[in-house]
Amino acid sequence: MKRIAILGSTGSIGRSTLSVVESYPDRFEVATLAAGSNAELAFEQAVRWKPRVLSLAKEEDAAEVRGRLVGAGISEVEVVDGAAGTVRVATHSEVDFVVSAIVGVSGLEATYEAVRAGKTVGLANKECLVVAGELITAEARRQGRPLLPIDSEHNAVHQCLRGGRMEEVERIWLTASGGPFLKTPKAEFAAITVEQALNHPTWKMGKRITIDSATLMNKGFEVIEACRLFQVAPERVQVIVHPQSTIHSLVEFVDGSILAQISVTDMRLPILYALTYPERIASDLRFSIHDLRHLDFCPPDMAKFPCLRLAYEAASAGGAKTIALNAADEVAVAAFLEEQIGFEEIPRIIEEVMAATPARHLESIQQVLILDAEARLLAREMVQKQSRKGLPIRAIS
Ligand SMILES: NC(=O)c1ccc[n+]([C@@H]2O[C@H](COP(=O)([O-])OP(=O)(O)OC[C@H]3O[C@@H](n4cnc5c(N)ncnc54)[C@H](OP(=O)(O)O)[C@@H]3O)[C@@H](O)[C@H]2O)c1
Repeated sequence: MKRIAILGSTGSIGRSTLSVVESYPDRFEVATLAAGSNAELAFEQAVRWKPRVLSLAKEEDAAEVRGRLVGAGISEVEVVDGAAGTVRVATHSEVDFVVSAIVGVSGLEATYEAVRAGKTVGLANKECLVVAGELITAEARRQGRPLLPIDSEHNAVHQCLRGGRMEEVERIWLTASGGPFLKTPKAEFAAITVEQALNHPTWKMGKRITIDSATLMNKGFEVIEACRLFQVAPERVQVIVHPQSTIHSLVEFVDGSILAQISVTDMRLPILYALTYPERIASDLRFSIHDLRHLDFCPPDMAKFPCLRLAYEAASAGGAKTIALNAADEVAVAAFLEEQIGFEEIPRIIEEVMAATPARHLESIQQVLILDAEARLLAREMVQKQSRKGLPIRAIS
């Protein structure tokens, strides 16, 4: 029986993980759960799964859920709160496997502490590897524990890499759907609305990751993730646009062979793969090979999508530059969603914040959090400067 902690249990990946656990009751057990501010769902999950520990982001939410659980006759669930509560969920002695699925850097400390505590970690959270990949992967190597990618592209690469040794790899190909603006002329980018940008062609996800997919920043983050997870230089990680998203990613070996991974576009599969690794177990998540009709590929347009170029630059520089990239993107995307800035201003703000951030090597998670806060402050100032709130987005150029 594998005892699981879920960081971000109320989110999309968290709920999919619980669905996988539910399908295999003889293999997996929920040990601990961490949620953010969705107290109602956290309460329902605590009633259903009876975790040893449940954490909520805010003290008042934790107090309310604690009271409701006692009222429902459930006294065995310890309810904690805040960053320390999330760390407690991630490092509990009865946890074997941690699913890291809190969005943003809020999940960083708990993920790092889980690795430091010798837990096996399944990583959905991108931001952890983008901002502190060097520290997290070094600690995992020290602990002799695998970091198992749940993000579908890296999960696909992980699967393909089982076909050869690392020194036999020529390059990694990350596939990209291209987002909703693949065919939109650059001249029309200034008029892109929030509604259009939120309309992703293949995946239904949270708002930030959906906008990041539209700017191709999400693919840029994935390039950095791949560099850190698989210890390869950025020039050996390439992006290829594949609008059908049928192939989740590929690995090219030195002899010219290319291995690809194909499966349904359902996050429960990479979650199941990570939870059962190195085994594979039977599932009903089938892909119909008869539905395979077209597999189209084209190179990404770096001039149209500058976020991808910025991510490659940050991947090469590492350290403080990747922190600036992520923090500025988060602030700029939030400003775009609030219609404070236009779509084209997202990469402009990121580029300015990156340029204003001196290159620095990372030494600790605390330092990462400080640099992250500084970059956010800078990005907010730049948003303020560029903000044209009140003007309709279509008028922004
Ligand atoms: N969804 C996908 O298909 C997908 C695919 C690949 C990678 N990812 C990555 O996986 C991560 C999670 O994505 P998602 O789509 O599941 O996001 P989501 O649906 O927005 O869920 C985010 C989770 O994080 C929790 N959370 C937020 N702030 C928190 C805090 N301060 N303390 C504790 N918990 C907090 C939320 O709690 P509340 O809801 O209770 O506030 C929620 O449980 C992201 O990094 C994303 O890039 C997602």
